[in-house]
Amino acid sequence: MKVVCYGLQWGDEGKGKVTTYLSKDYDYVVRYGGGSNAGHTVEYGEFKLVHHLVPSFDIRTNTKGYIANGVVVDMNVINEEIEELKRIGFDVSERIKISNLAHVVLPVHKMLDEKLESIKGNKAVGTTKRGIGPAYADKVHRIGLRLIDLENKELAIEKLQFLSELYKKLYSIEWHDFDSIFEEYEKIKKYIVSPIDIKSELSKSNLLFEGTQGVLLDIDMGSYPYVTGTYCNVTGTEPGLGYPIKLDKRIGVFKAYLTRVGEGPFPTELFGEEAEELRKAGKEYGATTGRPRRCGWLDLPILKYAIEISECDEMIMTKADVLSGMQKVKIGVRYKINGKTVEMPNEISVLEDVEVEYIEFNGWKNLEDNNFQKFVEFIESETGRKITYLSTGAKVSDIIKK
Ligand code: GDP
Ligand code: IMO
Ligand code: MG
Repeated sequence: MKVVCYGLQWGDEGKGKVTTYLSKDYDYVVRYGGGSNAGHTVEYGEFKLVHHLVPSFDIRTNTKGYIANGVVVDMNVINEEIEELKRIGFDVSERIKISNLAHVVLPVHKMLDEKLESIKGNKAVGTTKRGIGPAYADKVHRIGLRLIDLENKELAIEKLQFLSELYKKLYSIEWHDFDSIFEEYEKIKKYIVSPIDIKSELSKSNLLFEGTQGVLLDIDMGSYPYVTGTYCNVTGTEPGLGYPIKLDKRIGVFKAYLTRVGEGPFPTELFGEEAEELRKAGKEYGATTGRPRRCGWLDLPILKYAIEISECDEMIMTKADVLSGMQKVKIGVRYKINGKTVEMPNEISVLEDVEVEYIEFNGWKNLEDNNFQKFVEFIESETGRKITYLSTGAKVSDIIKK
């Protein structure tokens, strides 16, 4: 089985928790894109993990993690994460593999990310400042440093020197301390594999691809320019691995409401007290940056768009428990664009200028409440997709098969 579990919104749908739950039935959880901009919080009960680069496999099982070449790797972040796991009693060193073709996120990438954002002023994207855009840009400029390049220290130093000079000339960014790169490489190198060497093992294995961000942050199909630097749609699995892969199922994860971190349009956004209430109830603060997440109601037109562009087979809904106890729950069901009713936008740039029509549901006390069933059935009938699991709380075990 080759399955992908990915976000249908602007990230933070709870993919990490859901992936961890599903992972016990797979040999590998595969990260195919993004970098340490991802923040996947997984609550085990006794302890909590925040995955930035380590794939969200259940650490209590034997499932392994593979970081494919589509990911940009901040070596310091992944080494720290692996160390943290060791500190709490889980040595995963035999369970992690990283493609040697993955590009390295360097300190200059983070510096440039910060600088670009500051120069853009009120046009800033609101990035995580983890150097993601610049690392992917250097990959495309064909000046990036890959893990494989670090095998030969002399050649790697030449490449780093070139990059250092280029960053100085182009961006007035100074960086010369290469030692930390080699120190981190020494720690990470035991996990590094050639994608060809691991290909036959992966082809025989049950793989669960773990999406990062959400399809609305996809560089092509998302709310450009307020997107991340790569393909976080399910289409990213193939360039991420470096070769074709036939997926058996695409499982889209969405929240019962909607959040977004950073700038960009958000038609169903709430403000003031209403937003604060939702943010507090859902603990909606960024796992990577700690920023308060913007909060709003579920937006059906863009959920339909996300389902369409990812050819979603089935869905998992998270965080409906957060809405328990509210008097009324709303869903944005249609847009009005220049007086015309739109059920699903055919491109996402229209989001800047839409009027949303809402439908109001009576609130529910808990997830057994009939009012909640009506909410679920409405979403299923509108999207034409089954919700196969309901995540009912933050813990890995808080999930019900429907
Ligand atoms: P990801 O980036 O998609 O993995 O999501 P994040 O981890 O950034 O954000 C989701 C947050 O909601 C995390 O703190 C999870 O522990 C938490 N969470 C996930 N599913 C549920 C759920 O069904 N109910 C509640 N209350 N919290 C959840
Ligand atoms: P997970 O995997 C939510 C957002 C940033 C910003 C835009 C570009 O936890 O769902 P970047 O640093 O990638 O260049 O920022 O994308 N963003 C995320 N928002 N969840 C994420 O990941 C995100 N990763 C990036 O806030 O708006
Ligand atoms: Mg997250």
